[in-house]
Amino acid sequence: MKSALTFLSVLLLATILSNSSFAQDAVKGKALFAVCIQCHGADANGLPEKKAPRLSGQHDWYLVKQLTEIKSGVRKNLVMQPYVAKLTEQDFKDLAAYITTL
Ligand code: HEC
Repeated sequence: MKSALTFLSVLLLATILSNSSFAQDAVKGKALFAVCIQCHGADANGLPEKKAPRLSGQHDWYLVKQLTEIKSGVRKNLVMQPYVAKLTEQDFKDLAAYITTL
């Protein structure tokens, strides 16, 4: 019985570890999205009064591309720039993973 439990714990741990090495993490993305809500809304439907577009329903690759281009300055967006300046490519993937669940 004890060894069966040990086996199950190891199996569980292995599953958790292999999941955490997935390319994107919607849970982390949700935490990162907290700061975006003020303009894009909690449901990511966009807030017209902030002139912030809808993000929900968008493709993940498109979201990552826009965030990458806004950060690099290829796409000029002075409003968003400060919010993406310190984020990494992994953060963008995590954000996109979360936004596509909305
Ligand atoms: C202060 C308001 C504000 C905050 C905070 C903000 N955004 Fe934006 N975002 C905007 C505005 C305004 C635009 C449209 C800019 C333009 O016209 O190019 C935009 C555009 C975007 C786009 C491009 C959408 C498209 O269809 O091309 C993405 C993706 C995006 N924001 C994601 C985010 C994420 C993720 C965060 C949080 C890390 C965030 N934004 C935080 C205001 C904001």
